[in-house]
Amino acid sequence: MSGAAPAPRGQLALVHWPALTAAERDAVLRLEISAAQVEFAGTLHKSVAACERGDPAEVAGLAIRTEAGIVGWLVLKRGAAAPDWTPPDGAVVSGLRMDLRHQGRGLGTAALALLPGWLARHWPDTTMLALRVDDGNVAGIRAYEKAGWAEVGARQMGRVGVERTMTLRLGAGTRP
Ligand SMILES: CC(C)(COP(=O)(O)OP(=O)(O)OC[C@H]1O[C@@H](n2cnc3c(N)ncnc32)[C@H](O)[C@@H]1OP(=O)(O)O)[C@@H](O)C(=O)NCCC(=O)NCCS
Repeated sequence: MSGAAPAPRGQLALVHWPALTAAERDAVLRLEISAAQVEFAGTLHKSVAACERGDPAEVAGLAIRTEAGIVGWLVLKRGAAAPDWTPPDGAVVSGLRMDLRHQGRGLGTAALALLPGWLARHWPDTTMLALRVDDGNVAGIRAYEKAGWAEVGARQMGRVGVERTMTLRLGAGTRP
């Protein structure tokens, strides 16, 4: 879709918020997406605040880092911190965003592909990932599909319009 140059993936990593340096936390807080995209992903400050005040056993903020620095962010929630539609033993991905300057380079898809490995190491009891994505969020839906996610269940009316529920089963095949 985009003419942006593919990004080198070698050093792509998901870094837990507590493990970030102060400079990296600042870089997370400076990530930018367009105003229209905020409708899809919510505000960054709300997302970071949810991770800072949440029970670390149930809420994990993960920065997406390359050798160029922090390029994106997402939050995982499970247990009582997760929405009521979360599958049993599941975790939900929320607030995913790639900085505008790094979108369309394959990094969002590549970051999603790292999630099963992070979960196997840190939340090994999690058997499924789930999320709700706005039906008009073409890039989001495509990135999830490319990372192996599939739509399940009926579409729902969400905060800004119709939303799809998508899941990724974490089986032996998806674990490192
Ligand atoms: C969704 C998002 C995380 C995807 O990350 P990304 O690094 O830009 O995505 P990728 O480069 O891995 O591209 C994934 C697919 O989406 C496509 N895509 C990316 N931007 C697109 C756009 N604006 N319109 C249509 N397709 C788009 C890519 O072409 C690619 O598909 P392809 O390989 O078949 O061409 C990123 O676009 C983003 O931060 N969006 C704003 C916040 C958001 O919507 N978050 C999701 C909330 S559920």
